[in-house]
Amino acid sequence: MAKILVFYYSRTGNTEKMANAVAEGAKAANAEVDLEYHISADDLGRFDAIIIGAPTYHHEMPMGVKRLLEDAAEKGLSLKGKIGASFGSYGWSGEAPKLVLEVMKYKFEMRVTEPPLLVRDSPNQTSLNACRDLGKRISESLIHET
Ligand SMILES: Cc1cc2nc3c(=O)[nH]c(=O)nc-3n(C[C@H](O)[C@H](O)[C@H](O)COP(=O)(O)O)c2cc1C
Repeated sequence: MAKILVFYYSRTGNTEKMANAVAEGAKAANAEVDLEYHISADDLGRFDAIIIGAPTYHHEMPMGVKRLLEDAAEKGLSLKGKIGASFGSYGWSGEAPKLVLEVMKYKFEMRVTEPPLLVRDSPNQTSLNACRDLGKRISESLIHET
């Protein structure tokens, strides 16, 4: 069974709602899903796909997300060829998910799903459906590979 990580940060709950929906969509399409708020870089290797939820604060990705990516780079983890995707809530500029996707693509040579999924403020039903669909698409793409 395909293994998918949904790792996210959320301060006021908006990206958390998105993360729950992404995980729900991936599970419904028969993947084994870990939904995590904390994870060590050493654990990243066991997933076929890594989906990161990052709200934008001060035009940046959150510190916890940055630290995970930096730890993975520092430890020389190979994530090459794994599927990567990102999403996040934002208020006005929304850089974080794009920055995450860039690191996945150019530093780790992951196969990323573009563009990232951005939702302004709190997600409504339509945007939660888009989150579920992202999880489902990632899950299905892995099933078709195996
Ligand atoms: C101190 C602060 C800084 C912020 N900086 C940005 C920013 O640079 N760009 C942006 O698009 N939104 C910014 N926001 C808005 C948040 O991204 C937005 O509230 C988002 O929904 C938070 O997601 P969360 O509930 O998952 O933490 C900022 C919010 C706060 C409180």
